[in-house]
Amino acid sequence: MSRFRTLDEVDVRGKRVLLRVDLNVPVGEGEVSDGTRIERMAPTILEIADKGGKVILLSHFDRPKAPNPKDSLKPVAAQVACIIKRPVAFVEDCVGENAEAAVRAMKPGDILCLENTRFHAGEEKNDPAFAAALARLGDIWVNDAFSVSHRAHASTEGLGHLLPAYAGRAMQAELAAFHRVLDAPQRPLAAIVGGAKVSTKLELLGNLIPRVDVLIIGGGMANTFLAAQGKNVGKSLCEHELAGTARDILAKARAEDCEIVLPVDAVTAGKFEANAPSRVVPVNDVGSDEMILDIGPRTVAYVVSVLARVKTLVWNGPFGAFELEPFDIGTIEVAEAAAELTAAGKIVAVAGGGDTVAALNAAGVTERLTYVSAAGGAFLEWMEGKALPGVEVLRIK
Ligand code: 3PG
Ligand code: MG
Repeated sequence: MSRFRTLDEVDVRGKRVLLRVDLNVPVGEGEVSDGTRIERMAPTILEIADKGGKVILLSHFDRPKAPNPKDSLKPVAAQVACIIKRPVAFVEDCVGENAEAAVRAMKPGDILCLENTRFHAGEEKNDPAFAAALARLGDIWVNDAFSVSHRAHASTEGLGHLLPAYAGRAMQAELAAFHRVLDAPQRPLAAIVGGAKVSTKLELLGNLIPRVDVLIIGGGMANTFLAAQGKNVGKSLCEHELAGTARDILAKARAEDCEIVLPVDAVTAGKFEANAPSRVVPVNDVGSDEMILDIGPRTVAYVVSVLARVKTLVWNGPFGAFELEPFDIGTIEVAEAAAELTAAGKIVAVAGGGDTVAALNAAGVTERLTYVSAAGGAFLEWMEGKALPGVEVLRIK
């Protein structure tokens, strides 16, 4: 694994540590509804504070066009304090006099959260003057925000050129897990790719086919492949216009000796609704007024048998309409099997992507898989084989 500078290589005592975290967490009615990302970054915050560093949290929140109270990080900072059980001070800007004064007042071990970096246009533009204004607040920069490292913004990338740069502990864990599944996997290696649309996963499929031994396709996107093979998918979600592309992908897989697994049976219903009356049918017998909402039991059994003969699994995207009961069953059963195989030491399983995490959390298996990434877009770009700017800047050349 190419090397990254980590917290093992710096003495943070007395230093002002600009710690880029991803506080872009779900907030409803002023309260954080899912603290997963904060729990992941907590060890890095505590380690730096306990070693006598001054922890200065930097993050964006949402995609504000201009500063506004709805996108303030203040309530999120309060939630960080709750989770780490330490006081977290807050300052209403991330650069300028107030921020500088707040940093000057810090003592070793103190934790300060700065306001939303995206309140300044220079953040997303990676403007050197804005990055320099941030850099004035710190002695070193630590990136613990893999989930926003696909952005070349001032706080995710620019700072890495201005200050000594290090990977935080969550970033380290994330990179180590990814290394085990795509760079140096034990084979056979299987990938599960699900989700609604093929159109959003074309680059991902293109990158995976030469790398994986088995590619399991699920979710709405499987319908496009079934239709491309001439099957009637009825009213199912399906990108019919991508039939040619789907056939090209299947041909590429054959040429690369990558086994493709598509559903052989499906759970269908007449409408997209929780508990809609449903039936199990072979994929050849879907009625014209039906829609496919999940994989059927024969497909589940086959996918589980595939998992039992591989050593490594990378998973992005649910199998069915997991947000609607009981059409979450296929995803839950496969997740359960993956968790058991992982717990038994038979496979290394890494999963990620917004919907995937929600589905795996609902299945209650997150703790039992090797690693579940809390990243959405960044996880996808990583699976697409792209270099992520916020990671590249940490690499030791
Ligand atoms: C995320 O939530 O996926 C990250 O925080 C990135 O957010 P963005 O897509 O607005 O850059
Ligand atoms: Mg919003």
